[in-house]
This record gives sequence, structure tokens and C-alpha cells, in this order.
Amino acid sequence: MSLYINDTTGIDELTRSGSQEQSYKTPAFALFAAQQFDAAAAEPKLFVFKTEENDYVEISASALKKARKGCDGLKKKAIKQKEQAAKQQEQAAAAAAKQMANMHITIEEDKSLPAALRCKIDQSYTHVGERVKVSGWIHRLRSNKKVVFIVLRDGSGYIQCVLTGNLALAQQTVDLTLESTVTLYGSIKKVPEGKSAPGGVELDVDYYEIVGLAPSGEESFSNKITEDADPSILLDQRHLALRGETLSGVMKVRAALLAAIRRVYKEENLTEVTPPCMVQTQVEGGSTLFKLDYYGEEAFLTQSSQLYLETCLPSLGDVYCMQESFRAEKSHTRRHLSEYTHIEAELTFLTFDELLQHIETLIVNSIQYVLEDPVAGPIIKELNPDFVAPKAPFMRLEYKDAIEWLKEHQILNEEGNEFQFGDDIAEAAERKMTDTIGVPILLTKFPVEIKSFYMPRCKDDPRVTESVDVLMPTVGEITGGSMRINNLEELMAGFKREGIDPKPYYWFIDQRKYGTCPHGGYGIGTERILAWLCNRYTVRDCSLYPRFSGRCKP
Ligand code: 4AD
Repeated sequence: MSLYINDTTGIDELTRSGSQEQSYKTPAFALFAAQQFDAAAAEPKLFVFKTEENDYVEISASALKKARKGCDGLKKKAIKQKEQAAKQQEQAAAAAAKQMANMHITIEEDKSLPAALRCKIDQSYTHVGERVKVSGWIHRLRSNKKVVFIVLRDGSGYIQCVLTGNLALAQQTVDLTLESTVTLYGSIKKVPEGKSAPGGVELDVDYYEIVGLAPSGEESFSNKITEDADPSILLDQRHLALRGETLSGVMKVRAALLAAIRRVYKEENLTEVTPPCMVQTQVEGGSTLFKLDYYGEEAFLTQSSQLYLETCLPSLGDVYCMQESFRAEKSHTRRHLSEYTHIEAELTFLTFDELLQHIETLIVNSIQYVLEDPVAGPIIKELNPDFVAPKAPFMRLEYKDAIEWLKEHQILNEEGNEFQFGDDIAEAAERKMTDTIGVPILLTKFPVEIKSFYMPRCKDDPRVTESVDVLMPTVGEITGGSMRINNLEELMAGFKREGIDPKPYYWFIDQRKYGTCPHGGYGIGTERILAWLCNRYTVRDCSLYPRFSGRCKP
């Protein structure tokens, strides 16, 4: 038999005949192919195409020797492949058989067991030795051959659950996915000494029901949310990202913080009110107003509820609100949102010093309550292990002294020049100063020109106002407040200075006509105080669905 080899047009495939039209690519393969057709056949004659002669020429003795060696290698490889294929087939058959068997494992409740007590996961920790049922989402899922480990989450806590025996083998269990919802029945056991688990317990599962099976494969939860995903993808998937331990932890601290602040306000006899969000007046400058078409009239989303709180003083006394404020902040910074939860309070018949003391009391006591909270306290420890609870009195630093400090430390203003009295201390410089000093600061007495129309001048230095910013290491300003001008003429001069038409403010101005009083107040950015408390790089991590320029979804 003659076989033809052409290393440019030939192909090493067993479907080819080895004729001149269906030549092979290599001599070794030609020898190998000949034996596939007839193992006992004599060695074929090989002809190799030579370009120089434009024809097939019988193979040289040395090339034939090499081809025989190559052919041996191909034979060995073929045998190995055959063995591997057989092994794979065997394994697939075994898996299919196991699956068939697992398919037939039915998961049924043993009715002879004591009735299971329905409880939330955090309650289950105290039911050691009892049979309970807990419902939740599969937060983590791991299995070895005979045991399946689930960490179940229900918002109240996490519990480690163990499935063994048929429960672990059943196909239904093999098919479980992350974020599926299940109800697990079983007994609560203390984890052995030296091992740790949430609540110090483990659920030894004896039966379970699937409530909602989450997708597997392409659509699986772990494909949607990955730790190293781009922040904008995580924001698009915020509804899923919120299920993570860090974000949900921050949200729990947030809830505890708002509750703690309400508790302090109750202790300090402030009344909660809910001012409107749709308004026709500005508080903190026109450039960050969100405009709104209000049935054909111009209106805005509120920047601050301060002016409305001030109107409540004569009827309700000291008041506070926790309300959304809106700022059309064009710049992307790590501490600015377009919508944030603003904690604001207004207090009557007090001095500037008393206002500062009240702010200290609020911050110190509410932070203490949050740290003592059984849910939030441990989360803060985890997220911010080095957190030091602030103690009153805070360091007091007047604006004019801060300017000197900045000069001494060669920190420059926004234009890149040495700071001068009258300059705004913008975010970067403010943070550098706060981080260097390293403790909470009450920065007071800002110049009239860089503060709002409603702030009164200091009696001893009319260049500056009775105003305060609370600065915290790592975030900078978390609170802005001041005494309010209570004299009618002075207030009108404030409007004039800032170029604001006083007409729409008639209701605010009336407070100075119908029984004026010394008063002051402040606003705390909830997300900023949280960023400080939970050691988050940006306030975006502290808002449920953060809004900033370019993002208003989901
Ligand atoms: O300093 P601000 O602008 O003060 C006021 O709005 C006053 N009218 C409040 C009052 O006296 N009732 O804002 C107060 C605080 C800031 O210290 C900061 O914590 C937060 O609100 N804040 C923001 N937080 C997130 N994103 C923004 N764009 C913020 N703007 C202000």
C-alpha cells in the first residue's frame, strides 16, 4: 500500500485515506493510520511531497525511522485516551446511578419528633437542646461528601446548620443554591469548646422545606455579586449587595444610631416633628437647590428643615426632625450625597456655649448607646476595631486659630496659596487638619462671609458668627450649626447681604415679630456620622440606596 504525505495541504485525520487527494500531514500519522485500518498489515510505502520537485518522492530511510518512533508515541497516546474515556464513562454512570438513587431519597418530617418551635434566628440561640424551625436565606453553602453546611440568614442573625445522612445526599439538597429561602427544622446544639459560630450554637437539621429556590449557573447570586466587582456594578445591584454582611451591618448600626439619637432627644425633652420636603425657600445657598415643577409653580426639594423647625419653637418648644435633605452637589466626593438623612434640632432660650454642650451630649450619649446595643455594638467592633468613643468636652478650636494652625502646618487653600482669614476651609484641608489632630473638634466662629444669612455675629468680634462645625477624624465635618439671628433688622440685613428676596420667607420672618427668642440649632449628616462610626471610606456605603450625580437607581 502507498500513502501520501504533504505537510502543507495534508491533514492528520483518520477519516482520510492517505491518497494524493487525501494526503496526511506527517509520516508518523500515516504509519499510525495504516495500523488502525489493519493492525497486521505490512508497513505501507510512504511518499512525501517535495516542493522543489513539485512531486511525491519516496521517504528517506532516516525519515522513516523517525516516523516509526513517532507512530509508537501516537499508539501509546491513543491507548491512554481510550482508557481515560472508559474511566470517565464509568464515573458518569456511577454519578448518574447515585443521582437516580438520590432522586429517590424523599425528605420527610419524622412526626415522632417533638413539635418544632418557630423562632427568628437570634431567638434560637437561647433554645439549646430544643427542636426549632427557622426560616431564612442561604447565606453560605458548603458540602463535603456526606455533610452539607449552611449558614442561614434572616436579618435577625446568622446560624450555622448541619445536614447529614440522607438529608445531605438527597438530590434536592445537592441542587440547593445560595440565597434560596428555606425553613430548617432541627435541634439547637452548643458548638464544642474552642469552636466559634454565631450565637455559639449549631442547628442539627432533621427536616427542611424549600420556600424559593434561587437560580444556579449563569444567573446564580455569586455571579451577580462578586467581591472585586466594579463599584458601579455593585450599585446597580444594590438590592442584592445589601444582603452582604458589611452593608447589612452598616444598616443595622444606622437603625441603632437613629434610635439612640431619638432616645437622647427624649431624655433632653425635644419633640419630634416632620417638616415638608417640598418647599419654596432655600437655606444653604441657591447653587445646590433641586428645582421642581410644583403644579406650574417653582418649588425645591428641601436642603434643610431648619427654618421649619424654628417655626415650631413657639408651639412645641425644643424640636427635632430626621428628614431627608437634598443637595444638587455637582462634585463627586466621598462625603457628599444628593439625598441624605438630616438629623436637625432647634433649641430655645440658650447661649452659644449651651448649644455646644448640647451637641456634645447628643454625640457622646448616642454613640455610647449604640456601642452598648447588643446588635450594633459587636458590628462596630468588627467594622471599626480601633474606634474610640468620644468623651466630652470636645476640643474647641476657633476658626481664626484653625487658620494659624493650617499655616503652621503648611497646608494650602484650594487655590494652592497660604490660608488667610476669610478663606473657606474646604474638604481636603479640613480633613488633613482633623486627621492630624486626631480627636473630635468643635470648630467655631466662622467669618460672616462664608456662612449662611441666618447666623448672628459674635458680640466680641463682629467679623465672625456664633457658628460651629463638628469635625471627626477620617470624615471631617459631620455637623453644622449655629445660633440664629433673632433680631428682625439684623435678619433682613442677612437676606440683603446674601441677595435673597425675603418675600417667600414671610412665615420665617414672622418668628422675629411674634415673640422672638434666642435660639440655635444644628444639622447632623447621618451618613457622615455613620462613616466615622463604621470606618467606611465613603458615605455611599452608609445610605440604603445612595443618590449622587449620575445615580438615581435602583
Ligand atoms: O452644614 P449644613 O449645610 O447645615 C445645614 O443645612 C443647617 N441648615 C443645619 C441646621 O443647622 N439645622 O449641613 C449640615 C450637615 C453637615 O454637617 C453634613 O454632615 C451634612 O449635613 N451634609 C451632607 N451629608 C451628605 N451629603 C451632602 N451633600 C451633605 N451636605 C451636608
